[in-house]
Amino acid sequence: MTPPFLLACILFLCIALSSAADLYKVLGVHNSASEADIKKAYKKLSKKFHPDRNKEEGAEGKFVEIAHAYEVLSDSTKRQIYDRHGEEGLKAHEGGQRHANPFDMFANFFGGGGFQQQEQVRKGPTSVTEFEVSLADMYTGASIDFMIKKRILCDHCRGSGAASDSDIHKCSGCDGSGVKVTRQQIWPGMFAQSQTTCNECGGRGKVIVRKCPHCGGQKIVDHTAHYTLEVLAGMPEGHEVVFEGEGDESPDWEAGDVVLRVRSKREKGGWRRKESSLYWKENIGVDEALLGFEHNITHLDGHIVTLKRDVVTQPGFVQTMKGEGMPHFHESTHGDLYIEYNVVLPTELSSPMRKKLAEAFHSSRHEKDEL
Ligand SMILES: *[C@@H]1O[C@H](CO)[C@@H](O)[C@H](O)[C@H]1NC(C)=O
Ligand SMILES: [Zn+2]
Ligand SMILES: [Zn+2]
Repeated sequence: MTPPFLLACILFLCIALSSAADLYKVLGVHNSASEADIKKAYKKLSKKFHPDRNKEEGAEGKFVEIAHAYEVLSDSTKRQIYDRHGEEGLKAHEGGQRHANPFDMFANFFGGGGFQQQEQVRKGPTSVTEFEVSLADMYTGASIDFMIKKRILCDHCRGSGAASDSDIHKCSGCDGSGVKVTRQQIWPGMFAQSQTTCNECGGRGKVIVRKCPHCGGQKIVDHTAHYTLEVLAGMPEGHEVVFEGEGDESPDWEAGDVVLRVRSKREKGGWRRKESSLYWKENIGVDEALLGFEHNITHLDGHIVTLKRDVVTQPGFVQTMKGEGMPHFHESTHGDLYIEYNVVLPTELSSPMRKKLAEAFHSSRHEKDEL
């Protein structure tokens, strides 16, 4: 652990420096960010820059800066002061009060033990969606924009459901405890005491006098969020891409993840994929099957693959093209391409053609069955 003296110095330094740094920028969030967004940003960044894990120069300073930004922005009073009067206003408000120790803050946030302890925060549901992309995108890699309809915390009330902070009152039904205790006579002189969730506040201990006009007190609103999926060349079928913390938001939990399971679309005909192998069916005429041919096919990224044979090709023959298959994931090598030949026979023969063929095939004997 860092000795307290050093820590104090770092703190002092950081505060002196950060007077200019925008606290929202420090956490990488917008000025209108919800409490949940701020929490999420702190969670991510504090883990990234914690000096126990990050040994890079400047990581500790950054960690302290992040802690300070979170300390201010996660407290609605301090945040309001900061929004209106900046760091100067905060200093005046705090009047030389000690700042929270960034390491204690980190430990508290993650439930007491820093990295070791399980996180206490309840997590919302994770949604898993099958996501189809074209095989060409899997071959070359692509950035695909998509939208998700989800619920986010109302940015007007920041998830409280109240028109303003002063509209949140202690519940008078349960005196803020969230439970009601009732005594019931079950026998003359005999009472049973039972606890029930307070029906006036639904167990929250608080009631809202004036509801937030933006979300109607629902705390959450519908939202269409835009994301970009990075499809990497050679991504395996069913590969899961996780958008951490982008699930439905709620004041009761920390948003779960959105998981996309990426697959290539099955298209009729054309290309087939199996892991790093590609399959293609090519039609050739009977003449080509016998005499040889040269065909050009256009690969998934548009490059030309020349299929050339000058010997007999049996129907169903499979030709292997080394290195023309799918890219290997995270590598610069490719799998193989397998070409299966389908020999197409003519539906009918003209008489002269038939005669010629007969001559060619039966040149050594007499044609008894000629027309
Ligand atoms: C196939 O493409 C090559 C160039 O990529 C060209 O030289 C050749 O003539 C083409 N062959 C056919 C049959 O189109
Ligand atoms: Zn609201
Ligand atoms: Zn109540």
